[in-house]
Parts: sequence; C-alpha cells; structure tokens
Amino acid sequence: MAKARRAMERDVKLVDVVIELLDARAPLSTENPDIRRITKGKKRLILLNKSDLADKGVTSAWIKRFKAEGCEVVALDARSNSSMGLVKEAIGRLAEEKRARDREKGIKERAVRALICGIPNVGKSTFINSLCKRASAKTGDKPGVTKGTQWLKVSAEFELLDTPGVLWPKFDDERTGTNLALIGAVNEEILNKEELCIELLDYLIKNYPGLLDERYVLSETEIHEKLAEYETKVTALGVNKRALAYMELTAKKRGCIKKGAEADFERAAKLITDDFKTGRMGRISLEKAE
Ligand code: G4P
Repeated sequence: MAKARRAMERDVKLVDVVIELLDARAPLSTENPDIRRITKGKKRLILLNKSDLADKGVTSAWIKRFKAEGCEVVALDARSNSSMGLVKEAIGRLAEEKRARDREKGIKERAVRALICGIPNVGKSTFINSLCKRASAKTGDKPGVTKGTQWLKVSAEFELLDTPGVLWPKFDDERTGTNLALIGAVNEEILNKEELCIELLDYLIKNYPGLLDERYVLSETEIHEKLAEYETKVTALGVNKRALAYMELTAKKRGCIKKGAEADFERAAKLITDDFKTGRMGRISLEKAE
C-alpha cells in the first residue's frame, strides 16, 4: 500500500488529468482516502462505474455533487463501449485549459496524459479494455515513470497511465466495511454473512420500502405476523427484529430450510446478498449524495 502510494505520488507529476473509478452504488466507500490528497490540484475525472446496478436518481445526485466540487463526472457501465466517447470528451474538456496555455506559449501540442486509479474490483481492467479496444498499445518507457507502470495509447490525443500496486479503500468505519462487502469490493468471507444480510435488509426496508416484499413475494399479513412473533423473541442474531423477520420469511419462500423445517439463515443470507450484488434485486444505491 505504501509502495503504491509512493508510486502514485511520483506518477501524478507526469499527467494532466487524474481519472478515478468509484462504484456508483457506494462512491464514498470506494474512494481511496489518499487519492484526493495525492492528486490535489490536478484536474479530476470521476467515473461512477457499475451505474447499471445503481439507483438512477441517486447517481444523478452524485453527478451533481461531484460537479459542484469542480470535477468532470461520467456514469458508466465499463463493460460496454457506449460511454467511452463521453469519457474522451470529458478528458478533452479537462485538458483544454492547459492546451490553450501551451498554444499561447508556442509549445507544440501533445497528447493529454491521464493517470487512472481505483480500489480493487471497481472495474479498472474492464474500463481500460473497453477504452483501448481499438487502439491498445503500450507507448514504451518514458523517463521518470515508475517501473511496472504502463502507458497506454488510447488515441493520438490521449495517453493513459495505469499505476501498479493496490490501493485499498478506507476501513475507518463499520458502514464502509459493510458497503464494500455488499458490493463485492472486499471478500465477504471476512464478515459474518448473516450480520451483513441484516445490515442490507435494514437499509432496504428504510430506503426502498416495498422492494423486498415484491422481490420475495411477501404479503403484508405474513410480514405483520412474523414481526409480531419476533417482538416476543430473543435471538442470537441481534436486535434488528424487522430484518430478521424478513430474512426468515425469505428463507422459507426460497426453500432455505434446515432439518425440522427451521429457516436456514446462513443460506438465506447468501441468497439475499447475492441477489443484491448481481442486480437481480433491482438498481440499488447504498450511499446517497446528501
Ligand atoms: P478491477 O480491475 O478494478 O479489479 O476490476 P475488474 O475490471 O476485474 O472488474 C471486476 C468485476 O466487475 C468483473 O466481474 C467485471 O465484469 C465487473 N464489472 C466491471 N465494470 C462493470 C460495470 O460497469 N457493471 C457491471 N455490472 N459489472 C462490471 P467478474 O469478472 O464477474 O468478477 P466478479 O464479479 O466475479 O468479481
């Protein structure tokens, strides 16, 4: 991590623009805390990736917020080529000021250089592949570039610098860790699956009312009955009885049953969190822009 940070501190001096990939479902949780500091003063392009899985209205609010901070922002699905034109246009806009200055000074115009960064699993490789599909080529060694760093020629006007090393997200609060596990940015095995699922259910009940009822075909009557039953129950899984009631009902609806017709909470937790992660549950954002 320290090595990746040092490499970035060196490489950032060579570029005009910094591109940071964030997960549109959790932009704050997927931000590396060092990137903003290291790239201070540089023009920034924020790519809200996996926006096909995020809530459209929430993503629009994030776009507004990042634009208000002076960044260019593009929401995209890195697996498709369709937004790559928008990315190139945004890079062009960010570089225009410098280009105009260079023209005034009589400096020969050169390709815009951009550094690309993002925490693991945010879609960096997928994005680079889509962006460079037609003209992917290393442009060879350049002085001062960290060993292992790659220059990729995107077009005659645009070169991309991919940094080696892994930049981890911040884990300074529990919510961030939960969000990262839910979107698959960190291995969920490190967290208790059932607790993770309870956090997700609690969030969905509060922020997307009716969504779970629809997805798992739960009637109002069965929810009320199960809730009433939980009100009087003490459980090892904690105090969020509403979320537990939903988990048990879903387990039974989806056949996650143990011997003796008991709900298999572990299997239900995996089913529910997988439904969220893969988008089967619909387009959901875990962080709002306000
Ligand atoms: P990284 O280099 O930043 O580590 O990420 P990478 O490109 O390998 O992408 C991680 C996973 O995310 C891949 O799925 C990839 O297909 C998926 N992905 C990338 N961009 C998007 C996007 O915009 N939308 C959606 N829906 N998925 C995207 P994978 O190979 O199946 O890996 P995994 O999901 O099993 O971890």
